[in-house]
Amino acid sequence: MSETTIAASISNSQSLFTHFNHIDPPIGRDGTPNEFYEALRDEMVEANRPVGWSEAHGGFWMVAGYPETLEVMHNTDAFSNDAVTFPRYETTEPLMLAGQDDPAHKRARLLVNEPFSPGRVMDFTRILRESVNALIDGFIQHGRADVAKIIGDPVPAILTALILGLPAEHGPRFFKWTWAMSHEFFTDPDSAAPKLKEMYAYFEEVIEERRRNPGADVLSRVVQAKIDGDYLNHEELIGFCTVLLLGGIDNTSKLISTSLWRLAWDIELRHRLTRDRKIIPLAVDEFLRYYSPASVGRLVKEDVSVAGVPMKRGQYVMLMAPIANRDPRVFPYPDTFIADRSPNKHLGLGAAIHRCLGAHVLRVESRIVLEEFLTRIPEFELDRTRTPKWTAGQLGGMGSVPIVFKPGERLSQGPPNDGVRTWLEHAMAYA
Ligand code: HEM
Repeated sequence: MSETTIAASISNSQSLFTHFNHIDPPIGRDGTPNEFYEALRDEMVEANRPVGWSEAHGGFWMVAGYPETLEVMHNTDAFSNDAVTFPRYETTEPLMLAGQDDPAHKRARLLVNEPFSPGRVMDFTRILRESVNALIDGFIQHGRADVAKIIGDPVPAILTALILGLPAEHGPRFFKWTWAMSHEFFTDPDSAAPKLKEMYAYFEEVIEERRRNPGADVLSRVVQAKIDGDYLNHEELIGFCTVLLLGGIDNTSKLISTSLWRLAWDIELRHRLTRDRKIIPLAVDEFLRYYSPASVGRLVKEDVSVAGVPMKRGQYVMLMAPIANRDPRVFPYPDTFIADRSPNKHLGLGAAIHRCLGAHVLRVESRIVLEEFLTRIPEFELDRTRTPKWTAGQLGGMGSVPIVFKPGERLSQGPPNDGVRTWLEHAMAYA
């Protein structure tokens, strides 16, 4: 939908909710769906309509207001996570954690809380900094790069591999599978299917291997764990691998790439973060609010009403974090990016029992990327010969961010480790 059409729909007093498709939102003048989200938010405020009905994908309720989104996230009696992806994945393996309800969810979550705690995440900071710098070494002498492909995509794949105890050089494969799960599955399911099959086969081998030779990584922990005296069955183990891969990689890639895109043209913000590193952690949360990568779905378990809107058992609901995070009832100047916004109770990482397991991981990861990137390449801008590209889907964000800058020097003269080298080869294929 063009900008004029967005404005025209409002003036014709048609509801923007009616044909909203969260998988493919209209892209506005700034290259993101934010303009459309703001128009929806305006409709919500003017018509006092925090919940609307969309005809897309067979019909679903769209919750756009902040208090209403929070209410649904907390009301786990009436709303199930069985449809956390909407349209739903029709797979035999359950999507563990994110796709489960209590009490099964609680038991599964207790198995993995500890490895994602702040203390454990900090164990990875040194290797993370080294990896970011090795990736930068791969392109700094060229004076141009697609930083979505060469920083945003690799860093979360490398870190997720380390946390899960998988070879970092398999990162491009992990990325391909998460892409198949969170994008291709919705747009081209035939092309996604063989990739998902490949992923299941890979994890079957990993699980067997962990049974034989358990280590200190998260997957070994899950393979050896018992719930109510029983080991997890095969489908549950595969479901665990899938959710940790999906959660760890795609969202974070989108957040990092979108942040670098913004810093490429928002010179004032870039200089501020370069000058005052202390605000980078707050800025990471403002990126999460302003460009929330994830919207999540729910299935109505029992008839319920939200903001006076009756919802029937069996209906689907989408919780639109990017719109709720612009609710003026909660956020002063909601359409302004305020780097050191505080408090910032955005819903970009969810809330209540399903609040993001990787919250500490992605915050540390994004902070380190920004710190290292701004140190090595403090001045850069968008490459005007190429176009940055927003990647839509239930997880949205910049998928291509071509930049130019004054070439710099490598830090290390030695060869990169295998994980970084594979990514450099892979990313150069896009250059
Ligand atoms: C920018 C990055 C990220 C964003 C925006 C994000 C967003 C979210 C959101 C909104 C939820 C709530 C789902 C719901 O309410 O149904 C969630 C849950 C989850 N996230 Fe993240 N996430 C990110 C990074 C990560 C990372 C790095 C991991 C690492 C493993 C991860 C793993 C998970 C898991 C396993 C869940 C399900 C938790 C549960 O249901 O108990 N996420 N995430």
